[in-house]
Amino acid sequence: MTDNADLAALIRTIPDYPKPGILFRDVSTLLLDGPGFRATIDRLAALVAPDTELIAGIEARGFVVAAGLSYALGLGKLMLRKPGKLPGEKIGADYALEYGTDRIEMHVGHVRPGQKVLLVDDLIATGGTASAGVELIRQGGGHVEQALFIVDLPDLGGAARLRDQGIEVKCLID
Ligand code: PRP
Ligand code: ADE
Repeated sequence: MTDNADLAALIRTIPDYPKPGILFRDVSTLLLDGPGFRATIDRLAALVAPDTELIAGIEARGFVVAAGLSYALGLGKLMLRKPGKLPGEKIGADYALEYGTDRIEMHVGHVRPGQKVLLVDDLIATGGTASAGVELIRQGGGHVEQALFIVDLPDLGGAARLRDQGIEVKCLID
C-alpha cells in the first residue's frame, strides 16, 4: 500500500458518532472532491484482479465505490442491499457491526455459478459487513477472491478476518 496521504487528508474524522467512543471516518468529504474521488477510483481500479467479472457493492457507501469501478472497468455491478429493498427472490446474511447489527440481501440468480466477483466497500472495520457479503455471494454461487476498500481500520481486525476466509484484501488508506 502506498500511503495515499492526499486522499486520507480528504476524509474527516468525527468523534463519538454514532455512539460514544467511535471515531467515525467520514468519506463524504472525499466524495465532495471531484479530483479526489477520481483518483480514488483510478487507484482502486489499478488493484482489481484482471479476471474479475462482476463488482459487488454493499449498501450504501459501497455503492458509490462499486459504481465508479464498474464504470471505469466496464463491468457489471451487483447491489448487496439492506433488508426490505429487493423486489425479487432473495437470500440474506445477518451480521454484527462496530455499532449495531444489520442484514444484507441479494437477488437469487444475479451471479452466474462460478462467476468471479470482486467485493467493494468504502471502509472495513470489524469486517462483519464484508464477511457477510462474501458469505452471501458464495451462497449465491459466486467465486469471491478479492475485496477492495478505500479505508481499513486495522485495529478492528476486519482485513485479517477476511484473509482468513481466503480473500485477498487491498485498501488505499490505513
Ligand atoms: C459502514 C461501512 C461498511 C461497514 C464497515 O456501513 O460503509 O459497510 O460500516 O463496518 P464493519 O467492517 O465493522 O462491518 P454502515 O453499516 O454504517 O452503513 P452505510 O454504508 O449505509 O452508511
Ligand atoms: N463503519 C464501521 N466503523 C466505522 C467507522 N469507525 N467509521 C466509519 N464507518 C464505519
